[in-house]
Amino acid sequence: MKILVIHGPNLNVLGKRDKAIYGDKALAEIDSLLKKRAETLKAEVMTFQSNSEGTLVDFIQEQSDSADGIIINPGALTHYGYSLRDALADTRLPVVEVHLSNIYAREEWRAKSVIAPIARGQISGLGWRGYIAALESLIAELKGADEKKIKK
Ligand code: DQA
Repeated sequence: MKILVIHGPNLNVLGKRDKAIYGDKALAEIDSLLKKRAETLKAEVMTFQSNSEGTLVDFIQEQSDSADGIIINPGALTHYGYSLRDALADTRLPVVEVHLSNIYAREEWRAKSVIAPIARGQISGLGWRGYIAALESLIAELKGADEKKIKK
C-alpha cells in the first residue's frame, strides 16, 4: 500500500515559520515520522513538497496510478487552488486534507477550502500529529478495518 504525502507552498520552511501557529518541527522531521509510522503499519509513504501549483499537479498526475491514497496539506492553495483540486479529483483516490493550524480559527479567508469538497475528510489544527492521524485513518480505511477488527 502506497500513500502520497504532498505539501504545498511555504511548508518547506516549517520550523522557521511562526512556531506558535505551525509548530517547531521542520518538514523533514514530519516526513520522517510519517515514514516510520507507515513502516509499522506495513505501508509505504512517498513525500513531496513544492511551492508551485503546476509542479504539484505534475507530481499528482505522474504518481497517482501507483498510489492508493493521498494526504495533502495544500498550504495557501487550499483557499484558491482549483487546478490542484481538479488534479486530486481526477485521481479518484481517497484524499485527506491536513492543516497544521486550525484554519477556522484564523483570518476569515482561510476558513474556505476549495479542496475539502473532493476530500474524504479534513484534519485541521492538530499540528504535526494531524498528519499521523490522517495516515492511520487512511491506511485503516484502505485495509478495510471494520469495527470487529478494532474490537479485537
Ligand atoms: C496551512 C494553513 C494555510 O492557510 C496556510 O496558507 C499554510 C498552512 C496549515 O497547515 O495550517 O501555508 O495549510
